[in-house]
Amino acid sequence: MTTSLKILGAAAALAVLAGCERPPVDSVQFGYRGTGMVQVYNPRTVAQQQPLNVVPEALPTVPDEGPRAREIYQNVQVLGDLSAANFIRLMTAITQWVSPEQGCNYCHNPANLADDSVYTKVVARKMLQLTQNVNANWKSHVADTGVTCWTCHRGKPVPEYVWFTAPPQDLKSNFIGDKAGQNTPAKTVGYASLPFDPFTPYLRDALPIRVNGRAPLPGPEGANNRSSIQQAEHTYALMMHMSSGLGVNCTYCHNTRSISEWTSSPPTRVTAWYGIRMVRDINVNYIEPVTNVFPANRLGELGDVAKTHCATCHQGAFKPLYGNGSLLKAHPELAVPPKTGAPKAAALGQVLFAVNRSDLNAEARAAIRRAAAELTANQALKVDISGFADQTGSADKNLELARQRAVAVREALKAAGVPEARINLRKPEFVIGGTADDSRRVDIIPAT
Ligand code: HEC
Ligand code: HEC
Ligand code: HEC
Ligand code: HEC
Repeated sequence: MTTSLKILGAAAALAVLAGCERPPVDSVQFGYRGTGMVQVYNPRTVAQQQPLNVVPEALPTVPDEGPRAREIYQNVQVLGDLSAANFIRLMTAITQWVSPEQGCNYCHNPANLADDSVYTKVVARKMLQLTQNVNANWKSHVADTGVTCWTCHRGKPVPEYVWFTAPPQDLKSNFIGDKAGQNTPAKTVGYASLPFDPFTPYLRDALPIRVNGRAPLPGPEGANNRSSIQQAEHTYALMMHMSSGLGVNCTYCHNTRSISEWTSSPPTRVTAWYGIRMVRDINVNYIEPVTNVFPANRLGELGDVAKTHCATCHQGAFKPLYGNGSLLKAHPELAVPPKTGAPKAAALGQVLFAVNRSDLNAEARAAIRRAAAELTANQALKVDISGFADQTGSADKNLELARQRAVAVREALKAAGVPEARINLRKPEFVIGGTADDSRRVDIIPAT
């Protein structure tokens, strides 16, 4: 009896421990003693990761002489300045990086290489610009190492780590409570009871990533304390992703004495800060614009396209491919700024509204005046006006309110002398994971 109990006990203990990592683990100290600045690595995980992080051999270089691709081929919009030989070298390389099994015809109609009827070719053209934009305009994150198609694709047409927006919770006619995107076990946040879609608010939209308010009390100006528990939970959810996406602990970017303080954070946190902005740029300006090109079976439940987060490039490594050399040096054509598809500028203004109201208060009018002044100064500029709504209460009512608010902003811009032709009213959208104040807003964004 006692023996079988002991065996049972031992089996139970093993079952519990199976969830933990088996020792030994390595720890590397990288800050002052006693400050807890230590990284814990499991050497077995690192060993498993090595073969997944190899960089393919670069193709031999060819002289950049002779006629340009634009002169020889019919439909070359991005790579026209390359020599014909260099152009074909890059075509060969992207086949290796993205569709080694499928070959050239993954993107091409073999009867006519200039034809754009295969959707993957249209996506690939945007991807060429995406890659150039990251390498030329986001050195604050990718340094001179940079990225190529291989960084995300690794020989697969669809990168292994991508995300879609999670559909809003079905509230069953308000019969059950709002889970705020939590308590559904999800790998994205390490199975913690945290909102499982931290990506939509922070890696597509630009909601503040924050736990602590910047001011002690609500105030009249922009420094209002808008931090909420919901926002804190979304922030932690994003941090779980950033840690697991890079295979690091929180201390890789924070000194836990004071998580939020920048002066005592290691420099990696600054790199990560730029990384967040870079990912938004990738998603908003390069991937979402080609949504309509994809066949329906490639889109998410809400009809959105697969997007990038930290793991898309990093894939569990602190630097993509563990910094094992850069293919970019062998492909300088991917390091020049893209000719077309320039990134969208930051919002010209943000207009906030009171609960259930669509009229403009003094602060809102000031924001609109500033935007109107910019539009007057730059006559070539056009703007998109988008209204946002939160997900509490009736969806139809909220979207209608968001529309009315957007119309109010448009009318105020017109009254300030901006012609209607330069204002484009966009469809109202839901904000996921925002604070109530962030959700009741209209953005004035330069149109591309
Ligand atoms: C991942 C997608 C992809 C693969 C794979 C690919 N291409 Fe391309 N190809 C493109 C894109 C995008 C363009 C247009 C580039 C531009 O607009 O600057 C293009 C254009 C071309 C053109 C110019 C056609 C014209 O007249 O306009 C040729 C030739 C070409 N590719 C050859 C090849 C060959 C050969 C292979 C296989 C070794 C290949 N491509 C594999 C995406 C691809
Ligand atoms: C920052 C990461 C990233 C980089 C760099 C990148 N891609 Fe992509 N790519 C994506 C994501 C995300 C998708 C969307 C996945 C999907 O197809 O559903 C995608 C999709 C594609 C598709 C469509 C595949 C399909 O079957 O739907 C092609 C083709 C493609 N990329 C080619 C390229 C080429 C060529 C390059 C290099 C010039 C490149 N990509 C660089 C992230 C990246
Ligand atoms: C790869 C770097 C990185 C890792 C790893 C990381 N963080 Fe962060 N963290 C950041 C950056 C960057 C910000 C600021 C984001 C911004 O303002 O856009 C931030 C912000 C925060 C904030 C908000 C601070 C404030 O001002 O209110 C908290 C809390 C936080 N992180 C906690 C964590 C926790 C807990 C972990 C581990 C699970 C973690 N972080 C892992 C980079 C990181
Ligand atoms: C487009 C690909 C790409 C994406 C997406 C990406 N990174 Fe990076 N990241 C890189 C590259 C490349 C480097 C290496 C730069 C270098 O060599 O110094 C890097 C380096 C870093 C570093 C510095 C590591 C060190 O030890 O110096 C941090 C921290 C980091 N990334 C965090 C993030 C976070 C957080 C995200 C998501 C918000 C993210 N990255 C998304 C490509 C990417």
